[in-house]
Amino acid sequence: IERTLSIIKPDATRRNLTGKIAAKFEEAGLRIVAQKRILLTRAQAEKFYEVHAARPFFGELTDFMASGPVVVQVLEGEGAVLKNREVMGATNPKDAAPGTIRAEFAESVGENSVHGSDAPETAAQEIAFFFSGLELVG
Ligand code: GTP
Ligand code: MG
Repeated sequence: IERTLSIIKPDATRRNLTGKIAAKFEEAGLRIVAQKRILLTRAQAEKFYEVHAARPFFGELTDFMASGPVVVQVLEGEGAVLKNREVMGATNPKDAAPGTIRAEFAESVGENSVHGSDAPETAAQEIAFFFSGLELVG
């Protein structure tokens, strides 16, 4: 059974949307097998998003991710990586399908409420970035 890493971003925790977003995952059949609320340092945000280091929005992205609490979660289910990305919707809320998290809640392409791993391999790396095996309870 597949697992993926989800982050509820600072724009969403600030607006008390943690529960509504978690409900979307659970309604889609994804099980939350680990979860914690943390405040990332700028350095931790830079490390997490290092694949985007050359992108023009890297500074804006990492400042934003360190601007307030995030809720990091491990979601488990059949095809969890793709299923999570379907529930999230497109990166830019203007392109996100109706009913998706980003269509309903995201404020902009940068402040887009959620992160989800993009492949099983990156999911494994991203889960290990935040959680030890002992913290995952299936
Ligand atoms: P993640 O699940 O967060 O990885 O989103 P994604 O896979 O849909 O998008 P991508 O990996 O291409 O970009 C990572 C994150 O960078 C996005 O979720 C946005 O928060 C941010 N981002 C992408 N494009 C832009 C942009 O043009 N401007 C700003 N400010 N942020 C951007
Ligand atoms: Mg991505």
